[in-house]
Amino acid sequence: MSLRISLAATLLYAAFAGQTQAQDAAPAFNGDAKQGKELAYTCNGCHAIPNYKNVYPTYSVPKLHGQRPQYLVAALKAYKSGERSHGTMHSQAASMSDQDMADVAAYLAGPEVLSESKNDVPAEKRPKSSEVCLACHGTNGVGITPDYPTISGQHRDYLVRALIDYQKGGRKNAIMAGMAANLTREEIDALAAYYAGQKPALQSVPKKVSFLSSN
Ligand code: HEC
Ligand code: HEC
Repeated sequence: MSLRISLAATLLYAAFAGQTQAQDAAPAFNGDAKQGKELAYTCNGCHAIPNYKNVYPTYSVPKLHGQRPQYLVAALKAYKSGERSHGTMHSQAASMSDQDMADVAAYLAGPEVLSESKNDVPAEKRPKSSEVCLACHGTNGVGITPDYPTISGQHRDYLVRALIDYQKGGRKNAIMAGMAANLTREEIDALAAYYAGQKPALQSVPKKVSFLSSN
């Protein structure tokens, strides 16, 4: 019940804030956040609720706010094509055009989180197994190009789930399948805990304060 109320409040807020949100979208990206707002109604039922869980198996629905919109489009294409096997996300993506994906990604991502620390977390403060990850995800998990996801501040259980899926073939991305193949379960847990704890962090819900302050 309280979830429904907070969802309604979020959607209402998003309706008023849509104009601002559109202006905040990355200029080089052709997604239109205003169009995306219409498409995002269903998505917000899961992605705008903090700590909302995938039912079986149980793990947190990923945070999308602050993510790279280009990466979100790539992920949606992977669900559509079956490269990623998640059933609900396949149904969500199946009927979307490339433009729909760009629009909804622009809306859901909002302003991207950017690394303020120049990605310079020293080696002794990181898990050893993260050495190979930083070329693409940075030392703190902020993706270094728009196609590489930001994993900084993402839910820990979702990161574990994703890495195991790359190992077991539920996700078939060739780069990540190779990266995950030889990780032990202990390394996966350590990497997920490390990146989940990094800042600047992804968020589930567009922050009301950021809408207010940009008005
Ligand atoms: C019923 C809940 C639910 C709904 C509705 C839903 N999603 Fe998802 N979404 C999930 C879950 C769970 C995952 C993680 C799937 C996995 O393990 O690969 C996910 C993953 C994603 C990802 C990948 C994120 C990443 O970090 O790789 C994107 C992008 C996404 N959803 C976008 C959308 C969009 C756009 C919509 C609406 C058109 C939507 N979702 C609707 C539950 C939902
Ligand atoms: C050569 C570049 C590269 C390297 C190195 C790399 N990754 Fe990735 N990573 C990617 C790309 C590209 C994706 C998106 C794959 C997809 O579409 O499924 C990704 C996806 C992920 C995801 C899923 C994110 C999400 O939101 O669903 C996790 C978790 C992840 N990487 C962790 C790691 C870890 C841990 C390492 C080191 C062991 C690593 N990556 C090394 C490029 C890289």
